Amino acid sequence: MQDLWVFGYGSLIWRPDFPFLESKPGSICHWSRRFWQGSNDHRGTENHPGRVLTLIASEGARCCGLAYRVTKEVLAHLDHREKNGYERHNVSIQLPSKIVPGIVYIADHQNAAFLGDAPLEVIANQICQSKGPSGSNVDYLTKLATALKDLRIEDDHVFQLDAMVREKLESNTV
Ligand code: SIN
Repeated sequence: MQDLWVFGYGSLIWRPDFPFLESKPGSICHWSRRFWQGSNDHRGTENHPGRVLTLIASEGARCCGLAYRVTKEVLAHLDHREKNGYERHNVSIQLPSKIVPGIVYIADHQNAAFLGDAPLEVIANQICQSKGPSGSNVDYLTKLATALKDLRIEDDHVFQLDAMVREKLESNTV
């Protein structure tokens, strides 16, 4: 049986809907998590795309998440799940006790659904207003922020957006 490591930094952290042999905290260098990818298949629609995560090349940054050891058969499921603009990239994953080769799904700026940077206020409003077949965009953000806190992973971009979205929903200012 051939197996490989997959690094998860977004919904793969809080919704691993695939069998895995083991999972460990992991990190990859020179990438930052950003809500820059449009979602018209999960957390939005064609006309009103939501915003989900991708990784942006970022010299000196470290993105922390979860690494899963899976059998090769699992890739077909992951390729389908991440089909809206994400592609597999080879990476070195730092596990607690060693570095292993693995893959990560990244949606780069050339894919059709890429939205790119915007003021946090704009991103927060878009997240508040979007929903799709997999549920609300707020649910994606909230579950991610909770999972990162549980794993003791710091991420200013995610936590600032989470705080802004909570504030907007509580004060009805979306
Ligand atoms: C990931 O979680 O690693 C990819 C992005 C996502 O599906 O949210």
